[in-house]
Amino acid sequence: MKARDDGSEVNAPARTAISARQLTRKFGAKTAVDHIDLDIPSGRIYGFLGPNGSGKSTTLRMLCGMLLPSEGHAEVFGLSVVDDAEAIRRRLGYMPQKFSLWEDLTTDENLRFIADLYGLDGDVAGRIAQQRQTYDLEQLRNQRAGTMSGGQKQRLALAAATLHSPELLLLDEPTSAVDPQSRRDFWERLFQLAERGATILVSTHYMDEAERCHGLAILAEGRLVAEGSPRDLMNAVDADVYEIEGADGSEAPRLIRELPWVHGVTQLGIRLRVLADRRQGGAGDALRALLASHGIGARIEPTHASLEDVFVVATGREKRNGR
Ligand SMILES: Nc1ncnc2c1ncn2[C@@H]1O[C@H](COP(=O)(O)OP(=O)(O)OP(=O)(O)O)[C@@H](O)[C@H]1O
Ligand SMILES: [Mg+2]
Repeated sequence: MKARDDGSEVNAPARTAISARQLTRKFGAKTAVDHIDLDIPSGRIYGFLGPNGSGKSTTLRMLCGMLLPSEGHAEVFGLSVVDDAEAIRRRLGYMPQKFSLWEDLTTDENLRFIADLYGLDGDVAGRIAQQRQTYDLEQLRNQRAGTMSGGQKQRLALAAATLHSPELLLLDEPTSAVDPQSRRDFWERLFQLAERGATILVSTHYMDEAERCHGLAILAEGRLVAEGSPRDLMNAVDADVYEIEGADGSEAPRLIRELPWVHGVTQLGIRLRVLADRRQGGAGDALRALLASHGIGARIEPTHASLEDVFVVATGREKRNGR
């Protein structure tokens, strides 16, 4: 499956912030990122989705010049991630998956340290105060980072990553420890940054976050398996989706999972959600017949694909795990 977001709702053609060609990273015999091509326009929020170990962090680390590609190449603002890593670094903010600020320093001390690293001049204290305000760190200004909660650390890390007003932000699961309200606030800030022209590349495991991205890349085992806007991906999903009601407590999930053309079965409260291979055709009738033959009288209705359905089909995960 490959749908593309051509950005047609934008009047001016967007500049490309990131382009990658056959970008690959191996660790010994393991290929963590496997020949991926990317074209990410500037001023957009672009998401990376993928199961654990699919290569999201490794790709982000190559794009910010922290890790060398084994093959292929990537450019950020037309600069090579290998030859111009230093010049790129000044223009980007990177928030690693694991907290990487100084645990023994307070909020203010960390931010001052980062300001020094980037050689920020002018009203540095004013800029830090602004960041404290934006990222809700006022109460934490004198607290050591090592004593903060997970979500507080993530707010501080985002304040640090955006301190020098970078044109590009690479955020690796920035909200994994953040509560729902803070997550919404966090995304409001991302949209504000994008409106001011920043390009944001963000990895996430949350479908609601992925759905808010302008464009998405889905990775599986290091390969780019689907790409496009969330809407295009949902429209183009290579599966028919059915919801089954009235089969709870029965052996329906097991029976349906055994069908070779079923990508996945999910229990949603009293309903079952079934993803059937589109090539099967007439899957609804086949499901009805299967359940009837086991004495299970259930209602089966076709429905629209969600982003999670896209994810399941693209990554082929449920089948591989034999769940
Ligand atoms: N430094 C390393 N040495 C050896 N293997 C590595 C290294 N870094 C990553 N890998 C392997 O590369 C693969 C991709 O890892 P990566 O961290 O990019 O995945 P991810 O998509 O970010 O996963 P997660 O959702 O768990 O963060 C994994 O199999 C991982 O074990
Ligand atoms: Mg990761």
